[in-house]
Amino acid sequence: MNEADVALKPKNLTMEEAASIQLAGLTAWQVLVERAHLKKGQKVLIHAGSGGVGTFAIQLAKHLGAMVATTTGTANVDLVKSLGADIVIDYKKDDSEKVLNGYDVVLNSLGKDTLERSLRVLKPGGKLISISGPPDTDFAKDNGSNWFLQQVMRLLSFGIRRKAKRHRASYSFLFMRANGEQLRTITSLIELGVIRPVLDRVFSFEATKEALAYIETGRSKGKVVVKVR
Ligand SMILES: NC(=O)c1ccc[n+]([C@@H]2O[C@H](COP(=O)([O-])OP(=O)(O)OC[C@H]3O[C@@H](n4cnc5c(N)ncnc54)[C@H](OP(=O)(O)O)[C@@H]3O)[C@@H](O)[C@H]2O)c1
Repeated sequence: MNEADVALKPKNLTMEEAASIQLAGLTAWQVLVERAHLKKGQKVLIHAGSGGVGTFAIQLAKHLGAMVATTTGTANVDLVKSLGADIVIDYKKDDSEKVLNGYDVVLNSLGKDTLERSLRVLKPGGKLISISGPPDTDFAKDNGSNWFLQQVMRLLSFGIRRKAKRHRASYSFLFMRANGEQLRTITSLIELGVIRPVLDRVFSFEATKEALAYIETGRSKGKVVVKVR
């Protein structure tokens, strides 16, 4: 761990709450601020708004002044509304691509079907940014992958890039990186009360296996934390 990668813990959070921030917070920041350059008045669809990344991304996108639509299951509709989502699509009842259109950005954290259907939500020039794959060549290059791996990732993302082009949109994959400066900005937003962590359950270190099994159900809300001591 490099000292440039860390930041002081937000004063108003417990250690468990603070532990839930880094991965989800930096991912949301790097998708919405760094990659999408999300601006006031733009429209963003955040898939799985009740998940770890989603709960953070909704609040950040609202702070940036965007109009936020999100997908979630029936049981979590009230949660995502409480985080500021303007339009909530219950994926058990509706398909986002049938209800939404003219969006500037989609943050995808779900599977291939959702990824491809999300293109229909975007306006021409819109950005489809996925954190759940497939990886693309720029990611391979940034990652220092060799020529062969770059070609593998080019092939893995060929289909979705071609489909995005047909929709006059762009596709990119993002894998978060540690960044102390961004974490410090996130800390100040948390201390100002702009963003609050959503913590589902805290497991003891001895119960790590149960924690992982719980996450694998795909039903957790916000973050799950393992307490080491
Ligand atoms: N590339 C990166 O740097 C990076 C960083 C972080 C995470 N990730 C990846 O991003 C993905 C999401 O991670 P996460 O931790 O945010 O997810 P998560 O917390 O595990 O997501 C769980 C949530 O997803 C919702 N959900 C499940 N199926 C859904 C569907 N079809 N439509 C809408 N919502 C649905 C669930 O709500 P219901 O119970 O209501 O269904 C639940 O609240 C994972 O694949 C993870 O590996 C990548």
